[in-house]
Amino acid sequence: MAEEDALAVALAAARRYIASRGGRPVWPQTTLAHLRETIGRPLPENPVEPAQVVDALARAAEPGLVTTTGPRYFGFVTGGALPATIAAEWLTTSWDQNAGLYVMSPSASVVEETAGRWLIDLLGLRPGCSVGFVTGCHMANFTGLAAGRHELLRRTGWDVEADGMQAAPRLRVIVGEEVHVSTVGSLRLLGFGSRELVRVAVDAQGRMKPDGLAAALGSADGPTIVCAQAGNVNSGAFDPLDAIADLTEARGAWLHVDGAFGIWAAASEHLRHHVRGLDRADSCATDAHKWLNVPYDSGLVFTRHPSAHRAAMSMSAAYLTRSPEEPREPMDWTPESSRRARGFSVYAALASLGRRGVADLVERCCRLARRFADRLRAEPGIEILNEVVLNQVLVRVAPPGGDADAVTREALRLVQEERICWLGGSNWHGMEAMRISVSNWSTTEEDVDRSADSIVRAARAAACSAAL
Ligand SMILES: Cc1ncc(COP(=O)(O)O)c(C=O)c1O
Repeated sequence: MAEEDALAVALAAARRYIASRGGRPVWPQTTLAHLRETIGRPLPENPVEPAQVVDALARAAEPGLVTTTGPRYFGFVTGGALPATIAAEWLTTSWDQNAGLYVMSPSASVVEETAGRWLIDLLGLRPGCSVGFVTGCHMANFTGLAAGRHELLRRTGWDVEADGMQAAPRLRVIVGEEVHVSTVGSLRLLGFGSRELVRVAVDAQGRMKPDGLAAALGSADGPTIVCAQAGNVNSGAFDPLDAIADLTEARGAWLHVDGAFGIWAAASEHLRHHVRGLDRADSCATDAHKWLNVPYDSGLVFTRHPSAHRAAMSMSAAYLTRSPEEPREPMDWTPESSRRARGFSVYAALASLGRRGVADLVERCCRLARRFADRLRAEPGIEILNEVVLNQVLVRVAPPGGDADAVTREALRLVQEERICWLGGSNWHGMEAMRISVSNWSTTEEDVDRSADSIVRAARAAACSAAL
């Protein structure tokens, strides 16, 4: 059967790719022009056999793939794909369920219900929280903040879903100076301009200062949303959630926590102290495609106010049949209607790791991040800019008398050119830095050592050429 042939070709290509992950160069050696030539051919006039299409696609795309699921990819904050999740994704695609309504896929609904319950327990959130399965933390931030907008305006007597934002009572939004850009992007979609946000000072690690928040909260009356974060995208630092929750509760403000990756500290008894107070947040957002190592795309939102969450998201139409048994209707909790059943792979990740496995994964990545920092710090001229409290390491090459920004940029270029590992760049408090994020389930000490050696070589070469 044509379908089976195509699946067999895909399985073989997937197996080849997975087997090569540990050894292949992390960054592809190809060019845009070459990819355009091989992939960007004219639309065929006539149908082509599915197996042939899949084979040609695999061959054309393969040279331009970045080994982001491999053990030495440290760019952005990127998880790998756990074995059970890759297989579950295959099933998800084969089943092709629409996870919008129970009536379209009872299994998708119950899988979300169950995975949601497991996550609430694992992350120490309050029982009864609502959960939404979205594409990523950006949409999770959007959803949590939409629930906050609904609830605060409802308390003033305003129905924002019916009457909109143009004449609504003013809502203030307070963020830390180092708020993640996706929170700002979400707020923009919800009618809050980036210039309207009240920005609170942060400390040297990027953590929101509670006294700054107290002053901002005290400077005006009226309904307020406060956006905190668990896991600064550069340093990995955590805002002091407990102290922040004391302030927001006292003012009746809505506390939203962006915990794209940092929230997973809650799964470890050794790291959980970083997120003390998380359970007091009104809403929080995270990714499964980062530290839980679920394939893209997969984000999660939780709120302590199911009725606000549902009111902000749900829609009805005569044809959108709701089940009389009143099961979980997935589309009540997300901005989308029709939707991939991405709960299956979240469920598979949690079922395959178990509580202990999630904690091990998180703790191992943090241990490896510290190993990275220790090895790099031992090299004269390399500085670690952040306190390595989680899985993030900021590396700067600062040879005596050299232009550290230029040397760091050049060292990063050389690391990427060597293709043993891949890291991105950033600018941390006015300083250029290489940014390491250890988020992959399969990274080992050996991977870290090989990568650290590559970074040291690049740093020496960059410092040397700057000195000439
Ligand atoms: C702190 C933080 N929030 C939000 C996001 C956005 O997540 P996504 O791109 O998965 O939507 C990221 C991504 O790196 C992040 O680090």
